[in-house]
Amino acid sequence: MRILVTAGPTREAIDAVRFLTNRSTGRMGDAVASVAYARGHEVVLVRGPCAAPPPTGPRHVPVTSTADMLAACREHWPRCDAVVMAAAPADFTPARVHAGKIKKGSRTGGWSLELVPTPDILAELAAARRPGQRMLGFALEPAPDLDEARRKLERKGLDWIALNTPGNFGDPAEAELRLLAADGVVERLRGTKTELARALLQRLERALGAAELTVRVRRLPGCEDLPLPRYASAGASGLDLCAAVEAPLELAPGAIALVPTGLQIEIPPGYEAQVRARSGLALRHGLTLVNGVGTIDSDYRGPLGVILGNLGSQPFRIERGMRIAQLVVSRVERCRIELVSQLGATERAEGGFGSTGLAP
Ligand code: CTP
Repeated sequence: MRILVTAGPTREAIDAVRFLTNRSTGRMGDAVASVAYARGHEVVLVRGPCAAPPPTGPRHVPVTSTADMLAACREHWPRCDAVVMAAAPADFTPARVHAGKIKKGSRTGGWSLELVPTPDILAELAAARRPGQRMLGFALEPAPDLDEARRKLERKGLDWIALNTPGNFGDPAEAELRLLAADGVVERLRGTKTELARALLQRLERALGAAELTVRVRRLPGCEDLPLPRYASAGASGLDLCAAVEAPLELAPGAIALVPTGLQIEIPPGYEAQVRARSGLALRHGLTLVNGVGTIDSDYRGPLGVILGNLGSQPFRIERGMRIAQLVVSRVERCRIELVSQLGATERAEGGFGSTGLAP
């Protein structure tokens, strides 16, 4: 899934040195982005200015004002399956930004700042929504007011709204959210922000029909820059695996190489993973898997490598991050062997090796 996540406050300029902002720390949005990334989703994190650095992994789009955040969200929304709007964009912005610094001496009698409303980002995204896109917003209320949260959910056209209170600011040991769904279901979620993020993502994934099966992967040190295995399209059955070569690897015609993926993998019991070639690379460059289809057993924990061979007539250059193979996870049946003196009869009997001929 591709998920758009927003985090943090915005800053609305008053003059060249002053701005209006709020107390959002960005922790909730960062947690959602990190957890979504770790669960294999493609994440775009649109993030206002925060004290903490952005999480590693998700694509980071830094923004300053509510207008900037709206522009960045508008740009990425059409390609995304869902948005989690955890940011606290300012609702008002100064009507005019003064050029330079407003001098204290010029306002000795005090002064008023004229503010105008900012656009509501969620409402704008809802207006541009295509069928199937899911929207989760937050409602920051001074007290847990379910009726107000429901009104916001309806006004903004959301699938869920997470009712938040100022007690959740920062990184409390236990934060609490009430999650209201458009169908009326209300859930109480409690835990660290990472645990809350996981709970929110599970609901999004379920609604989007994402896989229920979890395959745990561990990145080997030095491979943090590489994407996790990912389905390239909604109907893809194989997760793409990337080459974790430190430098480009030239595979001469006829050569064989064990190409690392930078991953260790834990296939759940009862399942196997098959490593398969990518047809475009095979057709255009003769790149093949020398072991046919590789099998990863559920008890294998070693590094995952791909045995590539070049059947083409030209050398093939494998770059770091190149998608070199795909991983198909499927259920396996283990069987019991029974020794018998006679097998069950069939019409075809021992006919094989082309015994049915070639005619259509
Ligand atoms: N939000 C938004 N655009 C804004 C302000 C808020 O998309 N300009 C989003 C927030 O990210 C959040 C949701 O709307 O997901 C609700 O924000 P909240 O501050 O609780 O509500 P407001 O719509 O600002 O209404 P009020 O200030 O009256 O509570």
